[in-house]
Amino acid sequence: MYDIESAKEQFGRLLVKHLERAERIKNDQGATDYQSLDTIVIGALGGDGIGPAITNQAVRVMKHVLQKEIESGKVEIRMIDGLTIEKRVEENRAIPAAVLDEIKKCHVVLKGPTTTPRKGDPWPNIESANVAMRKELDLFANVRPVSVPEEGIDWTFFRENTEGGYAAGKEGVVASEDVSIDFTIATTPGCERIIRAAFAFAKANGKKRVTAVTKANIIKATDGKFLDIFYQIAKEYPEIAADDWYIDIMTAKLIDKKRRSDFEVFVLPNLYGDILTDEAAELQGGVGTAGSANLGSRYAMFEAIHGSAPRMVQEGREIYADPSSVIRAAAMLLRHIGYIQEAAAIDNALAALAGADCPVKITGRDTGSTSEAYTDYLISKL
Ligand code: IPM
Ligand code: MG
Repeated sequence: MYDIESAKEQFGRLLVKHLERAERIKNDQGATDYQSLDTIVIGALGGDGIGPAITNQAVRVMKHVLQKEIESGKVEIRMIDGLTIEKRVEENRAIPAAVLDEIKKCHVVLKGPTTTPRKGDPWPNIESANVAMRKELDLFANVRPVSVPEEGIDWTFFRENTEGGYAAGKEGVVASEDVSIDFTIATTPGCERIIRAAFAFAKANGKKRVTAVTKANIIKATDGKFLDIFYQIAKEYPEIAADDWYIDIMTAKLIDKKRRSDFEVFVLPNLYGDILTDEAAELQGGVGTAGSANLGSRYAMFEAIHGSAPRMVQEGREIYADPSSVIRAAAMLLRHIGYIQEAAAIDNALAALAGADCPVKITGRDTGSTSEAYTDYLISKL
């Protein structure tokens, strides 16, 4: 039996929700000026698996470089407990209510990886905490830098973070035993704000090219909208070259050594951004090396792009986890709130530690350094 009426109702509710969301985006009030705040509150959330261990190391680094600001009260670092899979299951919410309240009292947060339940896991199918946080705090821009200096690679990805296939990922329709339908969503103000962010970044950082990645030849309504808006906004930036590629060939071009170093800034819908940034991070040394910024106009959240590595914890190896991704995310956080030199110092120290002659090496096992020893050494280089 098909229940067409209830499927139609479900679609109707979804439509209303996103029409209203589009209105809210239009009425949004510009970005926060952090340095004008009396106290900038940084929240730190450990998450699941290796998360607490590596996040604590990143907090140590932030405390070290912000020592004066913390003493003077300009900056406060708050540890927020409870963003764990156990607590989330207990409350049956993607983010426990008390945790969300605490997050909303901060200006920016650093977040360790969280477990996303999938089919076959012992957990109920609650929504990913990442995805929920991005939606809840309207963190529309997922900014992921990837650099491989010796290959001439210096890319910055602007992944749309609140729409596309993720916007209604848990609201698809299982219409009958045979037919299931998911939705992908694009709004005009939602496309505009991510594309503007990419061009504004390019302009502010002397980049000469912005590349849109879609599958607009096939996914016509939503990717088509994204691409149209991309070329409209590109006209506002005549000094920056704008071009577009389809996701399939773009995936190939990232491993084309002759072409890939020509790209600079990418802007792309959510799911393509998810996939392409893992590929890009792999070229830099793996997803464990990449940090990621999730920016909205009121809040911002910074995180590693990898998962919580439950296997490492099961095997008792979490003390050997690589903290560099979260430390890199912490540097991005500091840069975002105006501590540019401190951020650069951390990035330089991370680069120095990646060198072959560095005495601390993370291998993820007892053949290498612990996260703590790695961080001690990193702090000694600051
Ligand atoms: C990422 C991750 C998340 C995503 C998962 C953990 C929900 O892969 O940040 O790229 O799909 O966005
Ligand atoms: Mg991903």
